[in-house]
Amino acid sequence: MGTRTLAIIKPDAMGANHHGKILARIVDAGFQVQAARIIKMSKSQAEGFYEIHRGQPFFEELTAFMSSAPCMPMVLEKENAVEQFRQLIGATDPADAAAGTIRRDFASSVGENAVHGSDSDENAEKEVAFFFAVGDILANL
Ligand code: CMP
Repeated sequence: MGTRTLAIIKPDAMGANHHGKILARIVDAGFQVQAARIIKMSKSQAEGFYEIHRGQPFFEELTAFMSSAPCMPMVLEKENAVEQFRQLIGATDPADAAAGTIRRDFASSVGENAVHGSDSDENAEKEVAFFFAVGDILANL
């Protein structure tokens, strides 16, 4: 069994109908989708998810954007999932993202950057628990 990361296909990518192509890249890269939902976050849910960024100058913009339209949180499993997924999506700012990465190909700005990926194993577990109950995750069934 690999390790887990929490991914979100963000409202910009969902609105542009890029979620199918992004999901294909994720699966083709060897990630197993252990759980997935399509939701529309409330503003306070988005603030809770991004609590770690409260106080940052971009917090208001970020949480308004993430609660503006549907998004797709997913639990992904693979060996070294956090690091592997961060490589697949590329740098936070699409202008800095390497060729062939999801953000380079689908993101338009640092704020609307198509996907989220956990930044550590510890945060991945917290973020998975934010969106999913134990019984929502295939490995637990
Ligand atoms: P994400 O991986 O979802 O984690 C935090 C998010 O904050 C990040 O992706 C960006 O979309 C967003 N973010 C980081 N820096 C900025 C910024 N300078 N302006 C707007 N949004 C930002």
